[in-house]
Amino acid sequence: MADDKANRGALVVVEGLDRAGKSSQCELLYRSLLDMNYKTKYIRFPDRSTPIGKQIDSYLRGQSQLDDHSIHLLFSANRWEVAQSIHDDINKGITVIVDRYSFSGAVYTAAKGNPNLSLHWAWQPEVGLPRPDLCLFLSISPEEAAKRGGYGVERYETDSMQTRVRNLFLSLLDLPHNDEICVIDAGRSVAEVAQDILEPVLECMKNVDSIGPLKKLG
Ligand code: TMP
Ligand code: MG
Repeated sequence: MADDKANRGALVVVEGLDRAGKSSQCELLYRSLLDMNYKTKYIRFPDRSTPIGKQIDSYLRGQSQLDDHSIHLLFSANRWEVAQSIHDDINKGITVIVDRYSFSGAVYTAAKGNPNLSLHWAWQPEVGLPRPDLCLFLSISPEEAAKRGGYGVERYETDSMQTRVRNLFLSLLDLPHNDEICVIDAGRSVAEVAQDILEPVLECMKNVDSIGPLKKLG
């Protein structure tokens, strides 16, 4: 049951490869929390509805070409344009579920293989954004992902790109300051994965007040 005394909401991010089931799991998590009477919002990046998001959408569909640096900064700007509202919601006690965030931002750009776009470079525009209290990484093998089929429409949906993205995601998990990342085996049934996600999220929401105010990405 929702605890009315909780002062702030939790910032919960769900990350993973294309076809890992992120959006379905975010939707299920959102509904579960609402059913338990928690104040909850579900947002996703890229948010294709804003002017910046429309440019991103056009690029992903191959309808426009952009320099790799430019598109990278647009993805980041697309997060910055809602950073304040995320902050405000969290302070109002709303738990915000985010479908893709800064990890996708850094990893997909670095996976392009352009030597000027290192992971370090790609991370810099993210510094200062609201820091997730919990990041759930939905892990899926390339073989399991391939069985799910149905990709190839958008830019980045190629086997070589996804393999590089997966390896970069895994390298991020090893960094010492990333202890808020929780790896979920997403190669199982929807219900099993949902259960595995709900537990750490509820735990995080319970502990969030002892963590203190929302932090910033460093
Ligand atoms: P989506 O499939 O979740 O809508 O995301 C669209 C693509 O955009 C996906 O291949 C991942 C990529 N992406 C980035 O390259 N940088 C970002 O910052 C984000 C949020 C997504
Ligand atoms: Mg996709």
